[in-house]
Amino acid sequence: MKVLHSIAEIRQEVKSLRKQRSLDNHEATVGLVPTMGFLHEGHASLMRKAREISDIVVISIFVNPIQFGPNEDFERYPRDEQRDLALAEKEGVDIVFLPTVDVMYPSPTKTHVSVAELTDTLCGASRPGHFDGVSTVVTKLFNIVKPDHAFFGAKDAQQVAVIRQMVDDLNMDIEIVPCPIIREEDGLALSSRNVYLSEEERTQALVLSRSLRLAREEISSNPQMTAGQVRALLRREIGTSSIAVIDYAEILSFPQLEVLAEDTVLQQLNGEVIMALAVKFGPTRLIDNVIMETK
Ligand code: PAJ
Repeated sequence: MKVLHSIAEIRQEVKSLRKQRSLDNHEATVGLVPTMGFLHEGHASLMRKAREISDIVVISIFVNPIQFGPNEDFERYPRDEQRDLALAEKEGVDIVFLPTVDVMYPSPTKTHVSVAELTDTLCGASRPGHFDGVSTVVTKLFNIVKPDHAFFGAKDAQQVAVIRQMVDDLNMDIEIVPCPIIREEDGLALSSRNVYLSEEERTQALVLSRSLRLAREEISSNPQMTAGQVRALLRREIGTSSIAVIDYAEILSFPQLEVLAEDTVLQQLNGEVIMALAVKFGPTRLIDNVIMETK
């Protein structure tokens, strides 16, 4: 496994591995897993999927300053380079791209990629500028690595929708591969930010997956359930935790991410819906979601 820090090196290495691994009538493919590090099983599942689909697996580890708001956790975002590299090595990653902020942004970028509408709701509404930061850095990573496939987790479902839209709109020749949410045995979705949680907060955070599961069961068994009733159920269940502070508890169409009117009867919809939560436990904001067919 090669660990590279400069853009020139990564371009050179991807090029030479592509040549090396190509056969007469098969050009070797490159899969990219973009991450911000402090890797866990969720990230590992993306690497495994990449290993399955692509001939060459590249991951990037970069805590991207421009996707953090002024009062967010950029400075204290958890970092552990040695542990990350060991995990990547174990998953059979070929190349790790580990740039510094100066490498990615030698001067403040004057160019931003901005996806409209899909970013008006959920985390886009709560974290102004966040998705511009994400789509801009992902575009840069795509231009640096030139992957054939890129792997993203459904944990950040809005991110997947935004990146897919960007790739379609800008004719990027890259297949976006969404991967399922990996959870702890007790239901908590894995996240690098889970290390911030105290023992008490960690216990209370189970209300996220529990409320989503309850809502999903209720929708499946009650054909007349409305969007408004789902929101009320989610809020009521999250409210059973004394310390949970709701940022949003929403139900929207997926992947369009249009907020459903309160009286929308879910089973009369065609396609999928997403129930999405962002809830604070102490200073830590966690997200989770479930995407489901309504029929
Ligand atoms: P990060 O939060 O490190 O996540 C990297 C990738 O891992 C994302 O695609 C995310 O959805 C996925 N992931 C995280 N937790 C997961 C889980 N429990 N199950 C499955 N997949 C999971 O998302 C980012 O970084 C950044 O925004 C990035 C795309 C790298 C751009 O900076």
